[in-house]
Amino acid sequence: MQAKFPSESLTILTDMVLPGETNPLNNLFGGELLARMDRAASIAARRHSRRITVTASVNHVAFNRAIPLGSVVTVEAKVSRSFKSSMEIYIDVWVEDRESGTRAKANEAIYTFVAVDDTGRPVEVPAITPQTNEEKERYDAALRRKQLSLVLAGKMKPEEATELKALFI
Ligand SMILES: CC(C)(COP(=O)(O)OP(=O)(O)OC[C@H]1O[C@@H](n2cnc3c(N)ncnc32)[C@H](O)[C@@H]1OP(=O)(O)O)[C@@H](O)C(=O)NCCC(=O)NCCS
Repeated sequence: MQAKFPSESLTILTDMVLPGETNPLNNLFGGELLARMDRAASIAARRHSRRITVTASVNHVAFNRAIPLGSVVTVEAKVSRSFKSSMEIYIDVWVEDRESGTRAKANEAIYTFVAVDDTGRPVEVPAITPQTNEEKERYDAALRRKQLSLVLAGKMKPEEATELKALFI
């Protein structure tokens, strides 16, 4: 399988925050943002693998900034690294200022998707070649995050998490 670039999976979803999608403070409800991020990440994983993809884990979500009712929100998702059947998807969330139109980073998240066949069994995905500095940084750190996610899920013994151990030793 030929390696792909992260830019080939780039997925951009722009939408407004409507009544019914907010919490009692009139800011975007966290679960609604998670759903938008999951949808964008799923499309990015599909673009990279050209397979059915399922969410395996949500590894990191930071709700750094509230997003008020009426805001224009852009969710950008891109595969940051692929392994055998799994892919790390990095998601950046931007909010557009109504008057100036400038974008401010509101949140970010990291999801893991797995490509599967028609029966739900994991299948191999193409390798990925990062190009920009940001893509290279995200690629380099992805193995550490994968090991952390597997350890927390009870699927890897801490002593096998070589990349994580290297951080502390
Ligand atoms: C995700 C799923 C396919 C993994 O199946 P599995 O039996 O654990 O398969 P494997 O152990 O072979 O793991 C497959 C890949 O997922 C990765 N993986 C599994 N759990 C993971 C986790 N918690 N974090 C990171 N990666 C994980 C494995 O490391 C492996 O990656 P690799 O092939 O790139 O090395 C399976 O658990 C599943 O179908 N889950 C339900 C998915 C779903 O319905 N999501 C929507 C929720 S509503």
